[in-house]
Amino acid sequence: MRIIVTGGAGFIGSALVRHLIGTGHQVLTIDALTYAGNRASLRDVEANPRHQFLHADISDRAAMDAAIAQFRPHRVMHLAAESHVDRSITRAADFIQTNVVGTFTLLEAARAFWSMLGAAEQAAFRFLHVSTDEVYGSLGETGLFAEDTPYDPSSPYSASKAASDHLAKAWFRTYGLPVIVSNCSNNYGPYHFPEKLIPLTILGALSGRELPLYGKGENIRDWLYVDDHARALDLIAQAGRIGETYNVGGRNERRNIDVVRRICAVLDELVPANAPHDRLIRFVSDRPGHDARYAIDATRLETELGWRAAENFDTGIEKTVRWYLDNEWWWRPLRDSYDGRRLGLVAAAD
Ligand code: NAD
Ligand code: TYD
Repeated sequence: MRIIVTGGAGFIGSALVRHLIGTGHQVLTIDALTYAGNRASLRDVEANPRHQFLHADISDRAAMDAAIAQFRPHRVMHLAAESHVDRSITRAADFIQTNVVGTFTLLEAARAFWSMLGAAEQAAFRFLHVSTDEVYGSLGETGLFAEDTPYDPSSPYSASKAASDHLAKAWFRTYGLPVIVSNCSNNYGPYHFPEKLIPLTILGALSGRELPLYGKGENIRDWLYVDDHARALDLIAQAGRIGETYNVGGRNERRNIDVVRRICAVLDELVPANAPHDRLIRFVSDRPGHDARYAIDATRLETELGWRAAENFDTGIEKTVRWYLDNEWWWRPLRDSYDGRRLGLVAAAD
């Protein structure tokens, strides 16, 4: 198949591109190479003749039209986004532009192409819109997010993703574009930009810096290894029902404090000279609007499509820590664009 992956130079996008190239597809990666986009994350596939890269912004309609017309995709997998909650708190404009306007632009470009196809090609075409469980808001101590949980986003990031999900569903209902939406829990694994909790903690601990935990460190996230997510996305695009939502989650809920302690314990084993790493943990002021708990019910994906996460948190986190230890070539240059400083404290409005 010919597959367009937007955001393919990002964390999840690059894992998806590696998976799709590894399973024989032709891929056109479209990425604007923001601070979070990195050609180095595509190193394993760059030389493959079935992979092409286009440096372009999804909000650029002419560029999207030209790319789609030339590549003639069977499938568009849309991951390009501004993705970090803390950055959305201090600079929401980029999130509205890329996540809302960009998604709208891409949907329109895809629709223009799709509407010119023959009936059989139209029926086979898929637009997978990749989103987050954060659109559902925050859970209390019990319960899980299901596909019919009402939307209740808390942050500018999750609100912009919620808006984009509604656009994607509307393009199915109004125009018949064969859209599927997936909503996933927190991912972790290789090639993760070190602003997010897990890579920030690994690299902070390696360089002996303080490890900040917001509030009491008791907020809960449901962790999914990125390669399990990539497989799920491929399966959903292949076999999911159009117009539907599929939740993706690893059934691996952890409190942030336990995540950070586990990383420290793995590092104590692998880099014993600096043990104990948990001496670096510091509790800092909380994130504004901090959601207490996310947890996904992935029953639909598991029963309808037969997906299962291959990694549990303990196996996945050890693999991840080892990857960062072995791949300094990848993360060292990123320290120039982001040095690990605290993001997301509210300043005066513009
Ligand atoms: P990321 O920030 O690592 O990567 C985003 C990529 O999109 C980057 O390569 C960036 O250059 C590109 N991009 C940004 N703006 C663009 C634009 N205007 N045009 C073209 N490219 C642009 O993000 P990620 O963690 O890989 O997330 C990918 C998708 O999955 C996002 O849609 C995100 O909302 C969703 N998601 C992420 C998680 C998670 O835990 N990381 C969980 C659930 C859902
Ligand atoms: P993050 O990785 O930013 O993902 P998200 O906000 O999308 O869930 O944060 C994961 C959790 O870790 C979240 O509860 C916020 C918390 N956190 C910290 O405690 N310290 C940090 O330095 C960061 C970046 C996050």
